[in-house]
Amino acid sequence: MDIFEKCDSDEGYFGPSRVQEDYFFTRPILDPIPGATTSFQGQKCIQWSINNYLGLAEDNELKSVALESTRDYGTSAPMGSRMMTGNTQHHKLLEQKLAQYLDKEAAILFNYGYLGVIGTISSLAGKNDTVLIDKLSHASMLDGTLLSPGKFRVFKHNDMDSLENHLKHINRNRKGGILIVTEGVFGMRGDLANLKDICTLKEKYGARVFVDDAHGFGVMGPHGQGTGSYFGVHNKLDVYLGTFAKAFASIGGVTASNKKVVEWIRYNARTQVFAKSLPMVYVEVLKKALEKVKKGDDRRDHMWEISFRLKQKLANLGYCTGEGQSPIVAVYVPAGDIPTGKKIIFRLRELGIFVTGVIYPVVPKGIMLFRMIPTASHTDEHVDKTVRAFQIVRDELNLDLEKAFISQRESPLQ
Ligand SMILES: Cc1ncc(COP(=O)(O)O)c(C=O)c1O
Repeated sequence: MDIFEKCDSDEGYFGPSRVQEDYFFTRPILDPIPGATTSFQGQKCIQWSINNYLGLAEDNELKSVALESTRDYGTSAPMGSRMMTGNTQHHKLLEQKLAQYLDKEAAILFNYGYLGVIGTISSLAGKNDTVLIDKLSHASMLDGTLLSPGKFRVFKHNDMDSLENHLKHINRNRKGGILIVTEGVFGMRGDLANLKDICTLKEKYGARVFVDDAHGFGVMGPHGQGTGSYFGVHNKLDVYLGTFAKAFASIGGVTASNKKVVEWIRYNARTQVFAKSLPMVYVEVLKKALEKVKKGDDRRDHMWEISFRLKQKLANLGYCTGEGQSPIVAVYVPAGDIPTGKKIIFRLRELGIFVTGVIYPVVPKGIMLFRMIPTASHTDEHVDKTVRAFQIVRDELNLDLEKAFISQRESPLQ
């Protein structure tokens, strides 16, 4: 059998979309101008699908820093990995500033959040160790776990009994360490990890905790310090990861922890050691973005107002928006019915509202939801126009919205 045979089939992730060369539901072609609106197939739409929480993607000062930096350094410098020729004082300074912001001893940059997650988990979890991972963790966390030479176990989503049972089981014949791995804000449903109880359990059983706070970094808690800080347990998080691809509206990731742990990761994370370092243009932009994120309480307040308004108004129409306590608004499609979900997306886009449907493998099979991201760039008018469109769609398609509550409650997402 030819190894390429599968490429002719409709198997694999999003197989039917691939075969149909779909550019509507998967890989829609969008106007690259960032902001609360976008252009899709010639139609101006309100954009609810980008992670531009604080509205920094449109920030002119950040664009000027990028221009200046590109003029000085080009787009590739410094060339080489940090270990060889890619290290500069600027990288080190940004790491120090990030460590300060995150109240940790040290921090290390990665080129993507994804690379940060897999590099961090796989370098920390050795042969005798066990990774204990929340069932709904992002793909990068699972990949980092699978790359580790140790064992792993999966606990039920945010279920502290399940976590404790696993901890007890591992402790019976324990040879190495335990790393509990969870998201801070679960990026699809928008619910929060029960970090207080996770920290209590990790202390009780002598484990460590790694939090991938991609959607909480710059967003949650005082000054956007993250989901741990929102719950008042930030100082108990052993290893904290943030990505710059969301609230910071840039590229890259950061892991923060105590100095010895960060140095271990620096020398052992393969995605760090064997990859070119972050270009100067991003380092310079991130320094400025960090200042704006720190001082961004007005932006955060506005984003929360948009989130509450959108969630409340959609709920008033009868839509199921789940139980997330983060700004993310997850709208569940009745009974996870993909054909109906596609009709809703199609009609919403005709009405000038851009939402994306999320299905397996991003969420478990049997679920479909629209993951809507409120940002500081949205206005009340954007929300109201969006809600009117959802009302039209509900009435035109005669949606049985009650079914969405049942599918959400009984879903494998629980
Ligand atoms: C929870 C989580 N972790 C990691 C990542 C990957 O981050 P990046 O896009 O910076 O590679 C994402 C991005 O979607 C995410 O949501």
